[in-house]
Order: sequence, then C-alpha cells, then structure tokens
Amino acid sequence: MSDSIQTIPVNTFPPYAVSIGPGLLSACGPQLREIVGPCHMAVVTDSTVAPLYLDTVARSLRDAGFAVSSYVFPAGEGSKNFETLSAILEFLAEERLTRTDCVAALGGGVTGDMAGFAAAVYLRGIRCVQLPTTLLSAVDSSVGGKTAIDLKAGKNLAGAFLQPAAVLCDTGCLSTLPAAVFADGAAEAIKTGVLCDESLFSLFEDGTLTAAPGEVIARCVAYKAGVVERDEKEQGERRLLNLGHTVGHAIEKCSGYAIPHGHAVAAGLAVIARSAEALGWTEEPIAARVAACLAKNGLPTGTAYGAAELAHAASADKKRAGADITLVIPKKIGVCALKKMPVAELLPVIAAGLEG
Ligand code: GLY
Repeated sequence: MSDSIQTIPVNTFPPYAVSIGPGLLSACGPQLREIVGPCHMAVVTDSTVAPLYLDTVARSLRDAGFAVSSYVFPAGEGSKNFETLSAILEFLAEERLTRTDCVAALGGGVTGDMAGFAAAVYLRGIRCVQLPTTLLSAVDSSVGGKTAIDLKAGKNLAGAFLQPAAVLCDTGCLSTLPAAVFADGAAEAIKTGVLCDESLFSLFEDGTLTAAPGEVIARCVAYKAGVVERDEKEQGERRLLNLGHTVGHAIEKCSGYAIPHGHAVAAGLAVIARSAEALGWTEEPIAARVAACLAKNGLPTGTAYGAAELAHAASADKKRAGADITLVIPKKIGVCALKKMPVAELLPVIAAGLEG
C-alpha cells in the first residue's frame, strides 16, 4: 500500500481499519478482497456519486474477482426513508445476495446510513464496507457503525448499529466537492475539534482543513475510533459526539431537510456554545471563537427558527429518555460534558443561544 495511505484501527467487535489517502477507490478491489474475500458486492450509491465513481469502483471490484451489482437512488436527505430502504432490500433479494456477501456504501452520509441500515437488516445482517466520498462521511458518519433512516417525526429515528468490515476513504474525492458540501463536512470536523483538543480546533481557525484534509480526517477518525471503542452502543461517552446535534437536528427538521446536516450542526454548535456561555456553564468564553471558526469555514452561526419551534422539533429527538433529554455542553475547547435536563427546560436553554 502507498506510503501516503494512513490506516486507523477501530478496535470494536469485530475490529476493522479505516484507510485514508488518494487513489483508494480505483484500487478498492484487491484491498477489499483481502478483507472480505471473494463474494458478491452490491454497491449502493446515489445519483450524484454514481456518474463520478461507480464505474471506477465496479471495475476495480470485478478485476479483483468480485461479482458486482449496483443500486442507485436519488441523491438527498429526502431519500433517507422507508421507501428507499425497502427498494434497496428488494434489490439485494433480487440479486440473491447471501450471508457471505457484502454491501458497499459508496457516497456521503445519506448513502452510508441507508446502505448500512439495509446491510444490518437484510437476512438479519450481512457485511458492509463504507467508501465515503464526502468530507462529512469521511470525518464522521462512515466510522462507528451507526446506520439510520429518518421518520416523519424526526431525523435518524430508525436504525441499527453495524460496524463496517472496512472503511476506504479516498481523499481524491474531496477535490470534486462543491464548496457547500465541503463546508458540511467541516462542521463535523470542527465539532470534533471542540470535543477533542485545542490543537485540532486551531487547525480549523487557520484554514489547514483545505490545505491538508487527509491529516485532519485522520485526526478526527482517530479521536472517534477511541470513543467508539470505549462506548460502541452510545451508552455514555459516545453521546458527546452529538455536540450541536440536538439543535442541529431540530433545524434540519424545521427546514423540511432543505438545510443540509453539516450546516444545521454548525448552527446548532454555535447556538449551544452561546447558550452554555450565557447560562454560566462554560469554563472560559468560547462562543465567539466557535462562531468565528464556523464562519471562516463557510458555515452558518445561527438560525432563523425561533426557540419554541426548535424546542418542539427537538422534543422528538432520540437523545430524549422519558421526560429528560441529554445535551452536550461545551465547557472549553477540548472539554465537553453531558447535561441531562427535563425536556421542558430546553426552550429557555435554546432561547439563550439565539442571536439578537
Ligand atoms: N455521529 C455521531 C456518532 O457516530 O456517534
């Protein structure tokens, strides 16, 4: 394997590796054959990614001896539903995939979630490999085994945990991303910086993300791998990765999913940082610094939705347990904490973080 490829182990059960570097899609066949063995590989992708990379991936897989079939669904969060899931499952059955076969999720966060969920439930679970093509899926969603679809009541409300057999993150894909899609991934990377440490966060303040995305992806993945290894099923520490997501998911839902996930998370992160500071929960001022960093990376720092509609939308969030919800509170860069509170108290907390 090339020297420019970094490999991050994820020691879950079973363990797997995340490979990060250029050229991984065109060379995916031999690498995946070593990991999953010869089998039928069903490549699931969307209408944006298919014209860019499907032929490359399918050719490499076929050349390595895989039987290959592919399913393409319309791109966008609007496809992340039961209809698409059902269509993918019917496709896997028509293609007669068996328990020794494998699904490859080729694309961004929606594709990873959809294809991963289909693999998790088809024949009660077959293997899946993640081939992320966006920054968002590279730094966050392709790693850790969360899969889901949205329900009318809210985001990611039905899903399963299925750790992938491998993640191949081809950094060459990042150069074709439109600026807004790149920024979407920057939001999850900045979130990781706020959670993780000052040195990672400061990379986003000085623009290193665009200059050296592979380095940044590797650092984000290494941090996430550690969290997932300690708390695979999100019973405790992994909840920290939801920083910015309670308000972020509410913004997505209020917009009818017109606002993309990363942009909504950015706004949610800015809101919770301002709330935490205004309510005296931070150890040092961070709200202005977080907002400046988000803005520098082309991301929003607020939302037009009001506290009441956001609190109502957030009340269906899956981070709710009975009458309580657990928020992730940034205390300073590199230190965040979980705070459980009655759902009824969410409204004043959100209100404290809205601008103006
Ligand atoms: N995206 C948050 C997690 O994987 O837990």
